[in-house]
Amino acid sequence: MLEKAKRLISPSLRSNVPPFIVMDVMAAAARIEAAGGRVIHMEVGQPAASAPSTALAAARTALSGSYLGYTEALGIPSLRRRIAGHYAEQYGFSVDPARIVVTTGSSGGFILAFLAMFEAGDRIALANPGYPPYRHILSALGCEPVLIQTSAETRWAIPSEALLAEHRRKPLKGLVIASPANPTGTMMEAAALRALIEVAEAESIRVISDEIYHGLDYALPAETAARLSPNTVVVNSFSKYFCMTGWRVGWLVAPEVLVRPIERLQQNLAISVPTLSQIAAEAAFDGRDEMEAVKHGYEENRRILLEALPKIGLDRFLPVDGAFYLYADVSRFTDDSIDFAKRMLEQAGVAATPGLDFDPLHGKEFLRFSYAGSAADMREAVARVGKWLGRETA
Ligand SMILES: Cc1ncc(COP(=O)(O)O)c(C=O)c1O
Repeated sequence: MLEKAKRLISPSLRSNVPPFIVMDVMAAAARIEAAGGRVIHMEVGQPAASAPSTALAAARTALSGSYLGYTEALGIPSLRRRIAGHYAEQYGFSVDPARIVVTTGSSGGFILAFLAMFEAGDRIALANPGYPPYRHILSALGCEPVLIQTSAETRWAIPSEALLAEHRRKPLKGLVIASPANPTGTMMEAAALRALIEVAEAESIRVISDEIYHGLDYALPAETAARLSPNTVVVNSFSKYFCMTGWRVGWLVAPEVLVRPIERLQQNLAISVPTLSQIAAEAAFDGRDEMEAVKHGYEENRRILLEALPKIGLDRFLPVDGAFYLYADVSRFTDDSIDFAKRMLEQAGVAATPGLDFDPLHGKEFLRFSYAGSAADMREAVARVGKWLGRETA
């Protein structure tokens, strides 16, 4: 009887995706705070600022007046037009609104894109280190994530030769690129991005470009893959630049041929993206001045960290090009960044994310610091960690 019940309720193998270690860090930080301690949060990958006031005002108006029913599966037409217009404003080239699909965050976009592009068993190349849900969503969908190691020589992007070598070993069907990337914050120069897309597409490897951190670039301008090839699928979101993580709204720029299949998937999987969030997202484009001010805050935080971290011995980190992440090599202090992060939280009150979340191969040597908080917090974090490491600055 017990055996039968077990068979009935046992979870599927595909649901056996790993958890996020950062959630453990957040839970430990919450315990310290509940006991009256103060923690500086550099573990969470989300803006501290709220959505643009234009988005909030549009949502309030919609709540008091509109009937918030379902929308078209591809999204509210005026929002799709506005997103297409964003490509003209931001990158200076036009995208047909018919190619825009509104999604539940970029996370929802990945599920739709992967389902529309790949069969179970297909092999998809990903950069290591990288954002863990790429591999976890792919494996839950029955695809095979293939990690390609990146290094300083190629500014932590997948080199074309490594992609080709893996493809020759066993054919790849897809490639996910992110610039700026999470956890590294590194970006690909436009020429490198173009070269990688050309090499992939010449081999019929389909490219997905995660552009969620576009707008948050400090060292070099971000190029969109949509300009480089009409065959790539671009994934983007209102979560980061527009500070709207909890609103769960993002978008795809899809090749025409994929739009109808994605529409059918969306109709069946979600019907449509929350209407209130779509209305707010459309108005968010009118709040760019506020978001630029938030971005200047990240720039200042980045400047503080770049100047102060080397003074406390944290002088080995990847190029801090974009997003709001600094990925630091802590191997001179530890061979176990989970333990290091735990002690840094308990003893210095600074929370950061162990690299193992993003890199199953070398993550024990790295910590990711998010600098999406306040400048005062950045200064205090450096002072606390410096003291803890016995390397006080001044
Ligand atoms: C690289 C990257 N892609 C996608 C996402 C998912 O974001 P959302 O679903 O909120 O758009 C995140 C979130 O942290 C991310 O870092």
